[in-house]
Amino acid sequence: MRGLISCYSTTGNTRVVAERIATEMSEQGMEVVVRDPVREPDFDDLSSYDVVGFGTPTMAWKPSWGFYEVLGLVPTQKKLVPSFVFCTSGGQPINTLRTMSHSLTEKNFLVIEGLEVTAETNWPVARQFGEKAKGLVGKPEESDLEAVGPFVQGIVRQLESKNLRSKVFDFKVSPLHLIGKRAGPKELRRAMGTKKVDRKRCIQCAACAVGCAARAISLRPYPIFSKHCIGCWACYNGCPTEAITTSVTGGRGRYKGPALAV
Ligand SMILES: Cc1cc2nc3c(=O)[nH]c(=O)nc-3n(C[C@H](O)[C@H](O)[C@H](O)COP(=O)(O)O)c2cc1C
Ligand code: SF4
Ligand code: SF4
Repeated sequence: MRGLISCYSTTGNTRVVAERIATEMSEQGMEVVVRDPVREPDFDDLSSYDVVGFGTPTMAWKPSWGFYEVLGLVPTQKKLVPSFVFCTSGGQPINTLRTMSHSLTEKNFLVIEGLEVTAETNWPVARQFGEKAKGLVGKPEESDLEAVGPFVQGIVRQLESKNLRSKVFDFKVSPLHLIGKRAGPKELRRAMGTKKVDRKRCIQCAACAVGCAARAISLRPYPIFSKHCIGCWACYNGCPTEAITTSVTGGRGRYKGPALAV
């Protein structure tokens, strides 16, 4: 059996989970590829896989807008494609998996399983006020990934039995869900404040532009940010020289990625 995992990840937490799912699937005898949909946006051949997984970080209590940027590139499938969803969050995913599942169903994917993993928050606004101290530091740890094994076994069992069932994600009633619904890309961009690039620090490596899911950065020759920015903080967190600052955080609260190597 062949599997593809399309993993959108701004700072690596979700990627750790994707790689662990892939390892577990390989151990179950599957052939699996993990693809970064921002750097490799190739979705032409999805129906040739036995199962396709989609991963995203949670942002504003729902799938990151980057997930929708990715989904916009995925064609509606001609035949039903078995699928699974997974997300990481700083402990408040609320209805992220349910929302992902609905969006994928509209593209003719049959979502059969879902997995939430808690991780250190990469949201600099929270981190600068001490979110780091709230027991999330260093997550995901090995213990947070223990659920990956049973999750994969459940998927493989269903695929082998050919008795595929649509997973029901119960709706979690929460005011955060309602707040999240109102937080569009424009609101998240505004919440970042104004981004600036320190030209003395910027080495014009293009990492920020290449990793921007919204394609909102052009190098002329220093980064310029367009109104298409979805406020994901990937460029701010990921700049190797910390050249990007914002009016909200200055240069504080950057997240440098998970402790667990992929
Ligand atoms: C703008 C922004 C909003 C976030 N919103 C939430 C949230 O609503 N709930 C939550 O639990 N974590 C939230 N987070 C934390 C991320 O979901 C979490 O750190 C995730 O593991 C990042 O994954 P990645 O490294 O794969 O991008 C947010 C992070 C950012 C940058
Ligand atoms: S990632 Fe940082 S150093 Fe590289 S081009 Fe962007 S701002 Fe400059
Ligand atoms: S410009 Fe930066 S914050 Fe905005 S969408 Fe691109 S990577 Fe995310």
